[in-house]
Amino acid sequence: MSDVRVREQVLRLLEQVGSGLAPIVQAGDPVLRAVALPYDGELVPEELDALLALMFRTMAAAPGVGLAAPQIGLGVALAVVQDPGVGLPELEAVRERTPLAPRVLVNPRYSPVDGRTVGFYEGCLSVEGYAAVVARHHGVNLVGWDERGRPFDEVLTGWPARIVQHETDHLGGTLYLDKAEIRSLAASAGWGGHWALEPVPRTAAAELGFPLP
Ligand code: NI
Repeated sequence: MSDVRVREQVLRLLEQVGSGLAPIVQAGDPVLRAVALPYDGELVPEELDALLALMFRTMAAAPGVGLAAPQIGLGVALAVVQDPGVGLPELEAVRERTPLAPRVLVNPRYSPVDGRTVGFYEGCLSVEGYAAVVARHHGVNLVGWDERGRPFDEVLTGWPARIVQHETDHLGGTLYLDKAEIRSLAASAGWGGHWALEPVPRTAAAELGFPLP
């Protein structure tokens, strides 16, 4: 996809969707498996703002805590994140699920700050109806740009670190299932909801037979 096509695709989507929500692409669509093109200022600020507003709106309605552009069919390296928390103090404490203010990630990259990994259940709006345990870096150094082209270089830990790893992975064509303990896979309609409430998935690990970090 050339740079010109990025803008054409964005404008077409904005016109189709209007003030509504973007359809979320599901696993199996090649756009989720392609490496997204770096965003290189293809959109004028008003167009970028309209796209980001659509992404935030679509994420909030889903509901989700992150959305990458490929998930609405756009192969460009943009993502939005926002996590208000779930209102379950014990769960939030164990997972270090501190609120994550709304923000935009442009061409993000991450690297681990140390060797520590933590395993928790997570899901993805593009893999509807399932959750699985993924061992992820507890802390990452995240670098990238915001929507106004200002660079950032910071360390995130806990759940915010998990969210940005998940969304950055999307931009490289990676789904969380690629990194998941596949024996932990649980359908939300059944055991998924049950296991999701266990602060550390120790019982799930024992009963389903998968390792935890
Ligand atoms: Ni996802």
